[in-house]
Amino acid sequence: MFPTESNTIYCLFLLCSIFLTSNAAIDRHSLVTRYNPTRNASNPTTPMQVGNGNFAFGADVTSLQTFLPFATMSSWGWKNDSLPPNRTIEDVYNYKGESWYNHGRLVQYDFGGDPEIEQWLTANPNRVNLGIVGLVFLDAQTGLIQNVSESDLSDVHQTLDLWTGIMSSEFTYEDTTINVTTTSAQDISAITVTVSSPLLSPNTSNAFTRLGIFLDFPWGDGSQKFSAPFVGNFSSALFDNHTTTLLDHSEIQAQIKHQMVDAIFYTAVESSTKFDITRDSPIAHRYTILPHSDTNSLSLVISYNSTLPSSLPSSASLVQSSIATWESYWMDGGFIDLITGSTDSRADELQRRIILSRYLMRVNEAGEDPPQESGLVNDGWYGKFHMEEYFWHSAHWALWSNWDLLHRSSNVYTSFLPTSLSRSQVQQGWSSGARWPKMTDPSGRSSPGEINNLLIWEQPHPLVFATYEYRAFPSLSTLEKWKDVVKATADWMSVFAWSNASTGVYDLGPPLYVVSEDTSPNVTVNPAFELAYWRFGLGLAEAWFNELREEVPRDWTTVKNNLAPLPIQNNGTSTVYAVYEGIEPDFWTDPAYINDHPSLVGLHGWLPPTEGLDLGIAKVTIEEVWARWNFSNCWGWDFPMLAMSAARNNDTDKAIEWLLHPLFQFDDVGMPIGGVRVPTPYFPGSGALLYATAMMAQGWDGSDEKEREGGKAPGFPRTGWNVSVEGLSMAL
Ligand SMILES: *[C@@H]1O[C@H](CO)[C@@H](O)[C@H](O)[C@H]1NC(C)=O
Ligand SMILES: *[C@@H]1O[C@H](CO)[C@@H](O)[C@H](O)[C@H]1NC(C)=O
Ligand SMILES: *[C@@H]1O[C@H](CO)[C@@H](O)[C@H](O)[C@H]1NC(C)=O
Ligand SMILES: *[C@@H]1O[C@H](CO)[C@@H](O)[C@H](O)[C@H]1NC(C)=O
Ligand SMILES: *[C@@H]1O[C@H](CO)[C@@H](O)[C@H](O)[C@H]1NC(C)=O
Ligand SMILES: *[C@@H]1O[C@H](CO)[C@@H](O)[C@H](O)[C@H]1NC(C)=O
Ligand SMILES: *[C@@H]1O[C@H](CO)[C@@H](O)[C@H](O)[C@H]1NC(C)=O
Ligand SMILES: *[C@@H]1O[C@H](CO)[C@@H](O)[C@H](O)[C@H]1NC(C)=O
Ligand SMILES: *[C@@H]1O[C@H](CO)[C@@H](O)[C@H](O)[C@H]1NC(C)=O
Ligand SMILES: *[C@@H]1O[C@H](CO)[C@@H](O)[C@H](O)[C@H]1NC(C)=O
Ligand SMILES: *[C@@H]1O[C@H](CO)[C@@H](O)[C@H](O)[C@H]1NC(C)=O
Ligand SMILES: *[C@@H]1O[C@H](CO)[C@@H](O)[C@H](O)[C@H]1NC(C)=O
Repeated sequence: MFPTESNTIYCLFLLCSIFLTSNAAIDRHSLVTRYNPTRNASNPTTPMQVGNGNFAFGADVTSLQTFLPFATMSSWGWKNDSLPPNRTIEDVYNYKGESWYNHGRLVQYDFGGDPEIEQWLTANPNRVNLGIVGLVFLDAQTGLIQNVSESDLSDVHQTLDLWTGIMSSEFTYEDTTINVTTTSAQDISAITVTVSSPLLSPNTSNAFTRLGIFLDFPWGDGSQKFSAPFVGNFSSALFDNHTTTLLDHSEIQAQIKHQMVDAIFYTAVESSTKFDITRDSPIAHRYTILPHSDTNSLSLVISYNSTLPSSLPSSASLVQSSIATWESYWMDGGFIDLITGSTDSRADELQRRIILSRYLMRVNEAGEDPPQESGLVNDGWYGKFHMEEYFWHSAHWALWSNWDLLHRSSNVYTSFLPTSLSRSQVQQGWSSGARWPKMTDPSGRSSPGEINNLLIWEQPHPLVFATYEYRAFPSLSTLEKWKDVVKATADWMSVFAWSNASTGVYDLGPPLYVVSEDTSPNVTVNPAFELAYWRFGLGLAEAWFNELREEVPRDWTTVKNNLAPLPIQNNGTSTVYAVYEGIEPDFWTDPAYINDHPSLVGLHGWLPPTEGLDLGIAKVTIEEVWARWNFSNCWGWDFPMLAMSAARNNDTDKAIEWLLHPLFQFDDVGMPIGGVRVPTPYFPGSGALLYATAMMAQGWDGSDEKEREGGKAPGFPRTGWNVSVEGLSMAL
């Protein structure tokens, strides 16, 4: 009946559909688009965003930055401020902080000393807002720019199509429809914007159009706007602090050069529709683009770069690449379906948080460097990132099988290795190993600050990232790739542990800061979480060298096997673990110690059981924390960490409660709300949510395999929940 060729094609088609159905039993498209965010008004604190992990564009309800100057941010856009008056770069290079005693030896840190230079080093480099783009409304009679506000619009509808990464708005202005769609490029830092409206056509009698696009460039004031949703300052009072120059332009393209101190940023615009571009006034860094042909539609490609790009892709090709990239992201990575077949009414909200977090993490947290806490939405700590948070920001990529995205930044340990070896051995005088920075920037330099220099829980992280990679890619090349990092990490962890002759064990600290950053560093010794993490990490390093069939450095094993026992407290009726050895016995009621990250629950939850951990004591400790901690001051990843402690202790209903705790909120577009102590957005909360839900759904080493096969997820309640998973990996 069928010619051979068609038969083959038909068979291929059948095979493909079998492959697709078996591979895509979950209806991913319907689950993703079910949560497409919509707005009918701007949210004053969070944008709706498009982006690609290295670049993101935050929009108000017009899908542009017309009324609210949300930021356009990147992984590469940084600048340095001028040095303080009369200071030179030599002062920066020669900066030396204070030295503190570590068991009788003076160790030099990057804090204290020269306050002017210390402050400059804290604030520089800082991440810039590359510029904003918005609609311009003009008067039909005079052609002059009008002052229009959001309340002048009606019938406002904005939607983000999560499946394609396309954001669009439709609204009415003076009885006329305006449509805007905004899409981010996936390979470069660019957006394409299409505006459609009869208001674009010029008035036949005076040739004035009523609608255009503006570009504006703020001064990167470098100050720490800890809770501000916006980045940079557009005030005309700061006009002279920076310069913009309109370079050569033609009827279909233009380039603007923006210089801030020594840093130069180029914005290039291209369109298939002819346009004019003019500077609004000689004392504004604002430019207006107006179409100058008879059209109802204007499409622009707007790219941001540190060099002048040779040519820009077309608007249509950018849209195609967004559609293709997002579709493969949704189809190829891990997936959890919590709602099909579930009767528990909480499933829908948890599914919403998962889908929106998956979107926002790929927009904000998949760059070439570890992400900052606020991603590419705004600047928290001057745009810098925190290596201890890197676990929460990025370990979920491993469980959700997004290795391409994790690999963009996980080589940070290789690139920071030379400076971290130098920090450990040259600056601080340790006999071996690398000490990773805490708060840093793409150069790897440690930002000043006592906590930045004395925190230690960031140190074992690379061992966990390496181990996840080896579990996914168990090859010699993975072992070799991470070998130097694994060795330098475990070497420093070993030499940092101090052999205490009087007790015969190895102590951690003093000085050090614990996870909760709230104990006094010179008296803090043998913190419970850090001891467990040290044991766990050194065990992973040993396993690495065993897999490599190389001799495990003896110090690693000696230290691991002889670390101080986890500190415990016994008051006659109960035994619990303590935050650190010697902490006051009634710390459970002291606000100084129960207001911050409750890392005691991480002993069996975030971490698997480590050698010497008493699961009974861990359980009592966890329940004490649940009962007595001041959660009104907790935030972000605290709640997924609590959920993991519940899941590993088989209290699965409690795990769900923690994930949906009233203080752990995600807004209408999925932005993780910071809380009383940290600003919004706080993406470590989103990453931790994805890590915890993957672990609860797919399981962890030692969780019940049979339950998983029977359609029960090890960390979810037995009744009311039907959990389907695809493409996830087990947690350690
Ligand atoms: C706008 O959306 C909110 C909820 O998202 C809704 O309560 C409100 O009725 C909507 N307003 C209009 C004018 O559609
Ligand atoms: C900022 O200054 C430091 C110190 O001179 C330098 O290492 C770094 O590359 C500069 N960064 C930028 C973005 O100019
Ligand atoms: C900078 O140095 C000049 C010349 O020595 C001096 O007049 C001026 O007061 C100094 N400025 C500051 C801020 O120290
Ligand atoms: C810790 O000890 C050092 C001396 O080693 C001292 O300079 C520093 O002030 C102490 N810090 C605190 C917070 O007590
Ligand atoms: C077009 O311009 C003329 C002359 O300025 C003006 O009278 C007329 O109202 C304008 N048309 C529209 C639709 O605004
Ligand atoms: C524009 O209008 C808003 C409110 O509608 C007002 O606050 C603002 O001052 C106006 N700006 C100018 C430049 O007229
Ligand atoms: C705006 O988009 C809607 C579909 O969402 C379409 O029906 C309408 O014609 C568009 N209007 C303009 C002016 O392009
Ligand atoms: C912007 O700069 C102006 C002029 O220096 C200042 O008055 C204003 O407070 C600044 N705005 C913000 C949000 O920092
Ligand atoms: C702007 O430049 C002036 C003159 O150099 C300087 O005094 C001022 O601190 C700068 N303002 C900001 C907000 O950076
Ligand atoms: C900048 O432009 C160059 C040359 O066109 C291109 O290779 C590069 O990817 C662009 N960078 C970004 C961040 O868009
Ligand atoms: C002993 O400690 C436990 C756990 O912290 C606490 O619940 C209990 O009230 C304490 N008992 C006494 C007698 O202090
Ligand atoms: C967890 O608790 C459930 C009852 O809630 C029980 O059926 C199951 O066997 C327990 N699993 C483990 C590993 O203890």
